Amino acid sequence: MSRTYRIIPADCADYRRLAERRLPRFLFDYIDGGANAEHTLTANCADFARLRLRQRVLCDVSQLDTRCQLFGRTLSMPLTLAPLGMAGLYARRGEVQAARAAEAVGVPFSLSTVGICAVEEVHAACAQPCWFQLYMLRDRGAVTALLQRALAAGCDTLLFTVDLPVAGIRRRDIRNGMLDAGWRGRLAKATQLALSPHWLVDVGIAGKPHHFGNLADRVADPSDLTAFKAWLDAQFDPSVSWADIHWLRQQWPGKLILKGILEPADALRALQCGADGIVLSNHGGRQLDSVASTISQLPGVASALDGRLPILLDGGVRSGVDLLKALALGAQGVLIGRPWAWALAGAGQAGVQNLLEALRNELAVAMALCGVSRIEQINAELLEPCQAG
Ligand SMILES: Cc1cc2nc3c(=O)[nH]c(=O)nc-3n(C[C@H](O)[C@H](O)[C@H](O)COP(=O)(O)O)c2cc1C
Repeated sequence: MSRTYRIIPADCADYRRLAERRLPRFLFDYIDGGANAEHTLTANCADFARLRLRQRVLCDVSQLDTRCQLFGRTLSMPLTLAPLGMAGLYARRGEVQAARAAEAVGVPFSLSTVGICAVEEVHAACAQPCWFQLYMLRDRGAVTALLQRALAAGCDTLLFTVDLPVAGIRRRDIRNGMLDAGWRGRLAKATQLALSPHWLVDVGIAGKPHHFGNLADRVADPSDLTAFKAWLDAQFDPSVSWADIHWLRQQWPGKLILKGILEPADALRALQCGADGIVLSNHGGRQLDSVASTISQLPGVASALDGRLPILLDGGVRSGVDLLKALALGAQGVLIGRPWAWALAGAGQAGVQNLLEALRNELAVAMALCGVSRIEQINAELLEPCQAG
């Protein structure tokens, strides 16, 4: 006989289960899914699991410290919340809740161009400015205006996403009617919404407005979501190229980080273009399926850059142990995407905060058992030999 126990969430997987219970199916799958057959999505996590650490003993780890310096700030650990589109649909005013949780734990929050809450709303809710993520739009006037708003809200770090000249194919979104504005799509979504009454009241009704806050001034009627989405789809600019980085560099006085670099040659190009850092990323396996996992690409990219540019990594980080492995292979920090989305959907601000604290604790314990006390001491020697690329 099966019994249901009420558990206290202890890791990402627990929050994922909670999120699955709360969210309408199309939203859960939007977060959870990847591109095409999801090979890269799977590899991102599996390749972390394959790496083996080395246990060291009798190292006096009584003064353990997970703090680090990243882009001019002291963080409680080398981790940032990745930009996620539409987080205001995962929970009521979701970006604000997640940004508050990040601030409480002492790590940055990144706001997506296509967040539900505008940069001003997030700014008003927090003392620390967030990082801002930009997708290039055809209307460069709109981009300039967006950057001005981010600057006015105190943002000092821009993540410019370079791995989405076109949107990847996400089969779960097709099946769930996410991309179908006709009657079949409406019927599919309505059926799923009817099965999520808690979300419907808490987020669907009480969490309005649901338009993309950073872009609402660009369309005549932001509450007309179909027209809004059509405008946005037409705005994504597939002609974006390295020349735009030079243009962007002139527009943005703060730190400029290129997000979505996967190959050593592109990392070197980012260096030449004057970027201040890169996020080694395959968009969480949501763009080109069958590309390599990010953790498997890290040694090659780190070796090409040879310390000349900070590397953040995302894709598949699910624990403090994974964070330690990424640092050991040459990253200066990581971003987490789905984990914070699941925690937010499952338990709101408190959930994100609890998850972040659990990750920090896992990192501290893993450091101690590997015999290191400070982030700067983490290097490839913590891994079994022959795994450093
Ligand atoms: C639901 C969802 C929405 C996302 N939206 C954005 C976005 O708006 N901008 C962006 O640069 N990346 C976006 N990403 C990619 C994340 O920033 C990040 O690269 C990825 O989630 C990392 O992988 P992980 O989910 O395995 O941690 C999104 C990812 C997910 C799962």
